[in-house]
Amino acid sequence: MVDLLLGQVLSFEGDPLREGAAAARHEACGAVAVAEGRIVAVGAAADLRAAYPAARLHDYGQALISAGFIDAHVHYPQTAIIASWGKRLIDWLESYTFPEEMRFADPAYAAAVAERYFDLALAHGTTAMCSYCTIHPESVEAFFGAAEARGMRAFGGKTCMDRNAPEGLRDTPATAYDQSAALLARWHGRGRLSYVITPRFSPTSSPEQLEALGALWAAHPDCLMQTHLSEQTDEIAWVKGLFPQARDYLDTYEAFGLLGANGLYGHAIHLEPREIDRLAEVGAAVVHCPTSNTFIGSGLFDMAGVAARMRVGLATDTGGGSSFSMLRTMAAAYEIAQLRHMPLHPAQLWWLATGASAQALGVADKIGNLAAGMEADLIVVDLASTPAIAQRAARAEGFWEALFPTIMMGDDRAITSVWVGGQKRR
Ligand code: GUN
Ligand code: ZN
Repeated sequence: MVDLLLGQVLSFEGDPLREGAAAARHEACGAVAVAEGRIVAVGAAADLRAAYPAARLHDYGQALISAGFIDAHVHYPQTAIIASWGKRLIDWLESYTFPEEMRFADPAYAAAVAERYFDLALAHGTTAMCSYCTIHPESVEAFFGAAEARGMRAFGGKTCMDRNAPEGLRDTPATAYDQSAALLARWHGRGRLSYVITPRFSPTSSPEQLEALGALWAAHPDCLMQTHLSEQTDEIAWVKGLFPQARDYLDTYEAFGLLGANGLYGHAIHLEPREIDRLAEVGAAVVHCPTSNTFIGSGLFDMAGVAARMRVGLATDTGGGSSFSMLRTMAAAYEIAQLRHMPLHPAQLWWLATGASAQALGVADKIGNLAAGMEADLIVVDLASTPAIAQRAARAEGFWEALFPTIMMGDDRAITSVWVGGQKRR
């Protein structure tokens, strides 16, 4: 059975960060044909209706059909502490994050938050994500279990910490290795799921733990490895004190085998020239978390400088980030780029939340764009979802001007339908 979705359709034939808006393809009266979990055709509505006369029709009118959003860095266990007031990174971790993450020793609590997180993600049009869990294997079980139940492409891993974290939230080099290896064996490559080796960041891992996780990555080089890098200046000073022999923050990973093409480095705001060179040289990806960077007061990511050199994904970083919405996240990316005199085009913002994040996660051949053969993770976006957005979109000249108010002011109310792996979920 073929499902035929009708509406405006946005897809990409190239990378708008490099080629500008010409890399985008907008079909005003478009269609996407879906069968057996995959996209089988994208094109003009009239053509696809003729090609698939027996298809089941889903007419979304003037709404926009897009690839689902991909959140390249999120902490699902922080769902319940999003929007916690008044702290910067290190105090925020100690005051809000660590006490909450402690609760994930209880599998029932972990499962309840995972369910809530995935429901919120789908409601906001996020169909794939890469999440940190907590040190507890139970938190990883809850994450992958909830993703699998929804048929989602999800990446995640046990967050490893063996120092500078409270009692009850520390593992050891050996247990970090053994538990990560067991979870990897159980979940990596199962259906649409991928295990990600996850040292939280170098302040909370001893050199011995970093070395152990470097060895695990060397044994499973096809896995992604995610961590945090140069988010706040206080953090960087702390790293300098903990690793006096390191050339810079990135070197604390590089020295232990934790720098590579399958490495995902969250934030990456205050980078030294050597760090940018090394990340680019090895083909690593960084992840921009703009609502988090303003909310925790971290700094202004250099999109122009970094995107020219390496893959960049976009992410909520919930709950350091202040929203579950990749629309709100695009708006924050726009605002931060404005402060650095780089006006990101709507095509570039949309790409960051879809294709660029898929590239960062190494799955751009599977998700993040609408094209024949891709997995059918799609969203339908109402471009007039609130009175404020509708009145601005009504006087738009052209598609991008009609889309931009939804990027700047939209949220879950704009997401009218969500398809995951070819199944209509909402
Ligand atoms: N650095 C280390 N852990 C975290 C975290 O949970 N959130 C953010 N934003 N930064 C971190
Ligand atoms: Zn993070």
